[in-house]
Amino acid sequence: MNQTSNSGAERLRRRMARGAAFLGSEIAVMGGAMSWVSERNLVAAISNAGGFGVIACGAMTPELLDAEIAATRALTDKPFGVNLITMHPQLTDLIAVCAKHGVGHVVLAGGLPPSGSLEAIKGSGARLICFAPALALAKKLIRSGVDALVVEGMEAGGHIGPVSTSVLAQEILPEVAEQVPVFVAGGIGRGAAIAGYLDMGAAGVQLGTRFVCATESIAHANFKKAFIRASARDAVASVQIDPRLPVIPVRALRNAGGELFTAKQREVAQALDEGRVAMAEAQLQIEHYWAGALRRAVIDGDVEHGSVMAGQSVGMVTREEPVADILATLMDEAAQALEKRVA
Ligand SMILES: Cc1cc2nc3c(=O)[nH]c(=O)nc-3n(C[C@H](O)[C@H](O)[C@H](O)COP(=O)(O)O)c2cc1C
Repeated sequence: MNQTSNSGAERLRRRMARGAAFLGSEIAVMGGAMSWVSERNLVAAISNAGGFGVIACGAMTPELLDAEIAATRALTDKPFGVNLITMHPQLTDLIAVCAKHGVGHVVLAGGLPPSGSLEAIKGSGARLICFAPALALAKKLIRSGVDALVVEGMEAGGHIGPVSTSVLAQEILPEVAEQVPVFVAGGIGRGAAIAGYLDMGAAGVQLGTRFVCATESIAHANFKKAFIRASARDAVASVQIDPRLPVIPVRALRNAGGELFTAKQREVAQALDEGRVAMAEAQLQIEHYWAGALRRAVIDGDVEHGSVMAGQSVGMVTREEPVADILATLMDEAAQALEKRVA
């Protein structure tokens, strides 16, 4: 390495120091939890390569999570986290499983922590990380004792809010980044973007899409192929066509399943108009439409009818490669970008 690249790498190390210390990892890059994808192999690979892997609990039972944490521990002695979804009916039991294993960091996704969950997580000695979809919520979460925040914009894969990463980062970082570490997520595909968010005050970043095609990822070959073929514009947000039938926005690759979903919404809306179905039943039909669809795509490889959740950075995923190479590339790019800075 020459003199200048050393200085870029050194700047990067300094800018990531706080986030890395918080996570207990070498670099402040979190592998965003992805249901079905972020299991023992990918999580351990990310942590072993110096990042911070996060198990996606998703709809797992406490017994399955118990086994997954133990299996991940067997593959890495580095720290990793567990992502729990607030709506899970057994959230309390899942928190107890994390506590039993001494999991150091719990990420709560899907809204504000339900009553008692924050105390239970922090009481176990774990750090609690929450998603902040707006400045007011970021402040509220900090007041309630959350240890760190993820700010995720609508470029991301999976469930999304309405605001872009760049706007959320501008709104939230200047106000709260000094109080708690903030990790920026959504649409990050290259190291220059990481450098940019660190410059803005982020303690680190979280990436999901970029890790799906890692060699260590168990995602089906068809799922990986779909990622490698896709460009940014193929990763579209699900569309709600009738205000009576709420659709939670999800960003995924355009496919036949998405088109059938639009047709289904039209069909159910018409049944509502004609009084052939009650409102509650109609809404349930929409809510349950995608049940099991992510598993169908990730595990079974049905990328036409399953849900191929992917962020807009999917266009920057061009091949299958080991996690260590993905992280090394990102860090090199970030260091190069920082080398050009004056300070
Ligand atoms: C296939 C897939 C599944 C995901 N599942 C979850 C999940 O179960 N829980 C969660 O909090 N976030 C989930 N996410 C979001 C990621 O954790 C991460 O925040 C996001 O991918 C970051 O944005 P990026 O995709 O632009 O890198 C998922 C994302 C993808 C692509």
